[in-house]
Amino acid sequence: MPEEQNKVLDAWQISAQYWDKYRTLIAQIFAPLTAALVEEARIRAGQNVLDIGGGSGEPSLTISDVVGPTGSVMYTDPVAGMVEAARAEAGRRGQTNIDFKQCSADDLPFADRTFDAAVSRLSAMFFADPTAAMREALRVIVDHGYISFVVWGPEKANPFFSTITGVIDRLVEVPQEDPPDTFRFADPGKLAGILEKAAAKNVIERKLDFEIKAPIPFDQFWQIRTEMSGTLRGKMARIAPAQLPTVKQAVADAAEKFFASGTMSFPAEALIVTGRKSAT
Ligand SMILES: C[S@@+](CC[C@H](N)C(=O)[O-])C[C@H]1O[C@@H](n2cnc3c(N)ncnc32)[C@H](O)[C@@H]1O
Repeated sequence: MPEEQNKVLDAWQISAQYWDKYRTLIAQIFAPLTAALVEEARIRAGQNVLDIGGGSGEPSLTISDVVGPTGSVMYTDPVAGMVEAARAEAGRRGQTNIDFKQCSADDLPFADRTFDAAVSRLSAMFFADPTAAMREALRVIVDHGYISFVVWGPEKANPFFSTITGVIDRLVEVPQEDPPDTFRFADPGKLAGILEKAAAKNVIERKLDFEIKAPIPFDQFWQIRTEMSGTLRGKMARIAPAQLPTVKQAVADAAEKFFASGTMSFPAEALIVTGRKSAT
């Protein structure tokens, strides 16, 4: 495995405990993205659905309810801590129609045409070889099936991220982030082009404007963001303890308008890219 991908997976292994800790909030704030995946990939009761890079369990846990007892979900993620967290949550909820497999998107251990659809929420940016991953997703779905991927739109349209990184990058000297990063597929057409290169048919890209909303104050937002993101953890580690209160206050000032009502509400933009294995 290339060293770059090892570093990516190591960071996600550390993140897994925080994605587990904040799972209720994550499910709530990204629910519009899961709903879009269900709609775009035409997921319905009785289907067998693949989730690629399922993290602490979404969208698998939601889709398990959509496909119901006559359907099934195959959760996958290459990071052991994520797989454990997702499996434990499914157990707590008694969701028995989900199977779990630790594997990478570009090497799926499933036979051709195993699934009705394949989806992935906010993970494609981190795939080591996105074209190989798209080919794999197409290989394992049925001929008339859909693959659908949600990725982040541009950083400037996503103050949930830029409010903190903008301040830190201005106040603290930090090295530029290496690719792959959160905004790797923010340019319109970029991920769609990769699906087409992988021979997906009827490729469609849609912009998803939504709100990242939850009844939490600024302090909790600060704690969650600085714990959950590997990139931010790296940047925070470079800030001298004495400088931290200044940085936090500058972020609080920049974020004030998104907490105007006392709770969090950020405008947000994602892209959803969908393709089929065979043209209609
Ligand atoms: C931002 S999280 C999203 C998790 C989850 N889908 C969600 O929306 O809550 C990104 C996920 O991509 C996974 N990931 C990283 N590299 C991957 C790869 N090569 N193949 C599949 N998933 C990968 C990480 O382990 C992590 O769980």
